[in-house]
Amino acid sequence: MDKLLISGGACLEGELRASGAKNSAVTILAASLLANEPVTISNVPHLRDITTMIELLVSMGVEVVVDEKMNIEIHANTIKSFVAPYDLVRTMRASFLVLGPLLAHYGEAEVSLPGGCAIGPRPVDLHLRGLEALGAIIEMKEGYVKARVNGRLKGARFIFDVSTVGGTEHIMMAAALAEGTTVLENCAREPEIIDLADFLNAMGAKVSGQGTDTITIEGVESLGGCDHHVIADRVEAATYLIAAAATGGHVKMRDVIPEHLDVVTSKLRESGADVTIGEDWIDLDMRGRRPKAVSLVTAPYPGFPTDLQAQFLAMNTIAEGTATVKETIFENRFMHVHEMNRMGAQIRLEGNNTTAIVEGVDVLQAAPVMANDLRASVSLVIAALIADGDTVVNRIYHIDRGYEQVEEKLQNLGAKIKRIQSR
Ligand code: EPU
Repeated sequence: MDKLLISGGACLEGELRASGAKNSAVTILAASLLANEPVTISNVPHLRDITTMIELLVSMGVEVVVDEKMNIEIHANTIKSFVAPYDLVRTMRASFLVLGPLLAHYGEAEVSLPGGCAIGPRPVDLHLRGLEALGAIIEMKEGYVKARVNGRLKGARFIFDVSTVGGTEHIMMAAALAEGTTVLENCAREPEIIDLADFLNAMGAKVSGQGTDTITIEGVESLGGCDHHVIADRVEAATYLIAAAATGGHVKMRDVIPEHLDVVTSKLRESGADVTIGEDWIDLDMRGRRPKAVSLVTAPYPGFPTDLQAQFLAMNTIAEGTATVKETIFENRFMHVHEMNRMGAQIRLEGNNTTAIVEGVDVLQAAPVMANDLRASVSLVIAALIADGDTVVNRIYHIDRGYEQVEEKLQNLGAKIKRIQSR
């Protein structure tokens, strides 16, 4: 398994381009199963999760052509099997999202249940209840969801118990080909949901209200081809800005959608950074200063994203003052805390491990570390960048799932980082 060797102490400086959004792209790839004609998707990041989704489509007989710029052309109507096997769903939960599109387009699907993961149990009950509300007949057998429908899915009103990004996306996709109108309430409002709705509408769907908590989908009989450009990855972009702030550096992120990061830029300003925002760029200058502690509570969009909690925690370890960081989305998303404490951080968990109290220390010390989740792993890279000495971050296949060319991008900013490949 590859590792990253990071020599701490460099102040990050320079410019980077944000990649396309992983969490948009994986869902849009699943949604391509709804089309009767070829679709082309561009600005797709070159990541393990994307390769897994392509592998899944190919395993079902779908023709997928990827060019050297990661433009992906998908011919869904070449499909031969409607099964998503355990081995692929296990490695990436988002592959569960093929269930709704398969069912809506072909009337049947057999998809492995994703199970829990490192950050919590992550149930899919709302995905299944939403599909049932549209008329799906669902049976659980040997760890698989076997779903079918007599005729077409039927439009319905469905209210989500909690804000769920994947659940909202899943039912939106299925409803696009249902007979009649679907009204979804208490929907998640993340930018990736708007990107998916734009993709569906470009194929001929009739989705409105995306970005609000009520989404209306007038079902259509079939969906055609389209070209779609995936939005910028707000989490990736913010990760580099936080790394810049933590190291006292100066970084400009290009090709971003600044409004998707409003809450994050305001928290970065609270840390003492000078943040300047243009039409499609964000410039952060910490002027060599030590960041100030920033308290936060994770919440569904437009609140503070859970996917950036670990990175802010890393910055808070060496900040001036004490920060309180509360996680409200996932049950078990503080595994980075123990690793950071091994590096000399002063963090204690309270409230049944839902809240971290971080007392800023002057400096972290290098140590071998690892994590079992993407954002926790990248937060350890940030901790390593500000630590004294050489840190080895193990198990970086998690980082490769979500950060395109992470070491090249950080090297461009002046970080001393290299990949140690192991056979
Ligand atoms: N939930 C349920 N029942 C469901 C679905 C969700 O109880 O049927 C609960 C979850 O257990 C969780 C909460 O609802 O407590 C929110 O989960 P959500 O469904 O919104 O998460 P997700 O769709 O599985 C996506 C991102 C995550 C991101 C979350 C929250 C993708 C592929 N994944 O997951 O991204 O953390 O939304 O914003 O879009 C990451 O990129 O590192 C990552 C984990």
